[in-house]
Amino acid sequence: MDLYLNFVRPLFFSGLKADPEWMHNQFIGILANLSQRSQQPGFHWVCDRLYHSYNFDDPRLAQTLWGIRFRNPLGLAAGFDKNGEVGQLWGGFGFGFAELGTATWHAQSGNPKPRMFRLIDDAASLNRMGFNNQGAAAMAGNLARVGHADNTTTDRAIAIGVNLGKSKITELDDAAEDYRQSFEQLHDFGDYFVVNVSSPNTPGLRSLQDPDRLARIFDTLQTVNKTVNTTLKPNRQPADDSANSQLQAKCTQSKPILVKIAPDLSWEAIDDVVNLAQQFDLAGIIATNTTISRDNLKTQTIAATGKPIADEAGGLAGAPLKARSTEVIRHIYRTTNGTLPIIGVGGIFTAADAWEKLTAGASLLQVYTGWIYEGPNLAKRIMQGLLDRLDAHGLERIDQAIGLDHR
Ligand SMILES: Cc1cc2nc3c(=O)[nH]c(=O)nc-3n(C[C@H](O)[C@H](O)[C@H](O)COP(=O)(O)O)c2cc1C
Repeated sequence: MDLYLNFVRPLFFSGLKADPEWMHNQFIGILANLSQRSQQPGFHWVCDRLYHSYNFDDPRLAQTLWGIRFRNPLGLAAGFDKNGEVGQLWGGFGFGFAELGTATWHAQSGNPKPRMFRLIDDAASLNRMGFNNQGAAAMAGNLARVGHADNTTTDRAIAIGVNLGKSKITELDDAAEDYRQSFEQLHDFGDYFVVNVSSPNTPGLRSLQDPDRLARIFDTLQTVNKTVNTTLKPNRQPADDSANSQLQAKCTQSKPILVKIAPDLSWEAIDDVVNLAQQFDLAGIIATNTTISRDNLKTQTIAATGKPIADEAGGLAGAPLKARSTEVIRHIYRTTNGTLPIIGVGGIFTAADAWEKLTAGASLLQVYTGWIYEGPNLAKRIMQGLLDRLDAHGLERIDQAIGLDHR
């Protein structure tokens, strides 16, 4: 019996009637506390229990991409741990990696509340958070505490992605500089970085997907990457010597940069972004962010505001996004002959959903809404299902499933 599905979810979704964002913040607060104290005896025990309850390790699920080891292909999507407060502890829930942020250079409070909604009849969520976050410097401080696995648990270490957005107060013409400041500030703390130009909740942000503007951002960040060996200094206060040596190792590397795109782009616009990504040697594409489409929803009214769904601003995620995000993955894989790695995200709830995105062309996967609906056993269930599918197809390793539909 799954405790989450039978007791916790009904209580959270219907019983308590609490604001989803408030509940989210309580949950993050608890995990942040646990993560920061994970070396203290009682807390260490809890982290250990977490790991043993929800983790699922199998070497067939591991792969190395961009020189980074991913112990399994399922990551936590950006937006869940916006300030990097939980960090490595996400591995305790069975994730192979976690993408933290979106961080902006300036701290900002985001859009007026309420701004996070569940559409239960559609297995979906709607949000217009607006990049509420403590800013890149605060995130760097948080990640210095919780972003690295210590020596006793290195086999449990997960890769950390850092997702960067433009500050609301920064003019669109100055976007490249805004991203650059965040990238430099956080450079030592992420294994990979994401240029987020696809949130529908910051005015004008998605226009940064236009080739000219995007080229300026990519060029600026890759220039930082090229000069990092000589100019960037560690800006983190390591907790101890082992963290210090890890930091020194990370500091000398240029970091893989990906771009996260919206599902609402036309095929031509997607091709433009892909061409630019290749031109500027980006590491890959994240497909996709939330959608502004409201097609085919059962939910007609948002109860918390009383307004028709069509009148509510924000990005829709979860089941209604699944088909479109897979279509975008398939298109990018086909047009690039699988040469540009894709992180597939949008509407993953089951192993079948995960397999569909892998075989369409995604190298790695992420989940947000599915985790809210399915709970902490989700990663384990998906891993087991992926292994079953590898067996059924006579495949030995997960990377052999990537883009299988195209062969
Ligand atoms: C409440 C909420 C907040 C989000 N915040 C961010 C964010 O800050 N940055 C980002 O790149 N994506 C953000 N996303 C988008 C997710 O990372 C993901 O791309 C999208 O939700 C689709 O995945 P899903 O169907 O598994 O939810 C957010 C999504 C939700 C539901």
